[in-house]
Amino acid sequence: SKIGVLGVPFDKGQTKPGVANGPKSLRDAGLVEKIRNIHDYIDVVDYGDIAYSVDSSISKSVPNIRMYEHMVACNKEVSKRVRNIIESGRICLTLGGDHTIAVGTVDGHIQAKSENVCLLWVDAHADINTNKTSNSGNPHGMPMALLAKELSDYWPYLPGMDWQKPIISVRDVAYVGLRSVDNYERLIIDKLGITAFGMEDIEKYGIHDVVNMALDKIDPEQNKSIHVSFDIDSLDSLEAPSTGTSVRGGLTLREGIHIMENVYKTKRLGSMDLVEVNPAIGTTKDVQTTCDAAIHVILAAFGQTRRGLRPFNVDDM
Ligand code: ARG
Ligand code: MN
Ligand code: MN
Ligand code: MN
Repeated sequence: SKIGVLGVPFDKGQTKPGVANGPKSLRDAGLVEKIRNIHDYIDVVDYGDIAYSVDSSISKSVPNIRMYEHMVACNKEVSKRVRNIIESGRICLTLGGDHTIAVGTVDGHIQAKSENVCLLWVDAHADINTNKTSNSGNPHGMPMALLAKELSDYWPYLPGMDWQKPIISVRDVAYVGLRSVDNYERLIIDKLGITAFGMEDIEKYGIHDVVNMALDKIDPEQNKSIHVSFDIDSLDSLEAPSTGTSVRGGLTLREGIHIMENVYKTKRLGSMDLVEVNPAIGTTKDVQTTCDAAIHVILAAFGQTRRGLRPFNVDDM
């Protein structure tokens, strides 16, 4: 399989410094080499980090969105780059950065696959606030609301975002791992009937059934390109302490790995985001724990198995 890695050192979607160094900390922990070592027939290209330039004339043109002009410019570039990587025949792995960048990654994936995309959103949070419902004004709590077709009427005119088509229907979206959902986010999820598996569902059904139920819902014909947007804060605070909006009572690393092993087995992973790793939060050991967890989750997505693989090109002993 062919994989392209893209770094997006974007931290303007929230207020804690450090999350821009997520891509660097994952690469320094050996991510790309570790992907390369999964098996002999894997082909990884690291496209480095994106750069973007801002149109400051649109700053503050939309109320209650922090650093609006940065959100716009970064996502436009991300969309273009992700689209190109997927069109060149690779699965795109995008390293954040905060979760704001999923607007661009999902948009780019949808453009490349002419809309035949479903979205698995693995997160403690629903990230489906609009600028009217958000208590924080932080765009990293808004990407799902920008992407969903059904919510396009709830936004004011968004200057500079004309490239972005809210072309994913919430029928093609499922959440896994929710445990910190704002009041209006819950209202939206219920009103629109979005498939949402919270921690209590994982306790009830187990992670294996939850992933399969989620994928059955959003890809019933098993013919879509799967986008996984994996917020590292979906994992428990003990598993991934170095992240900006950690919530206790989350997924174990084993559950995170299991999700991605199941996605790998479909052979339809088209694009994956790994966001919100913040190496400025916690001790050196906390950062190592968090990066190691993120890497394990990513490796599972690309075919690392806990069973082990027999040697390549050897039939017999
Ligand atoms: N719901 C809160 C907000 O809107 C928290 C969002 C956290 N998002 C994240 N990507 N970590 O601000
Ligand atoms: Mn989150
Ligand atoms: Mn998130
Ligand atoms: Mn390890």
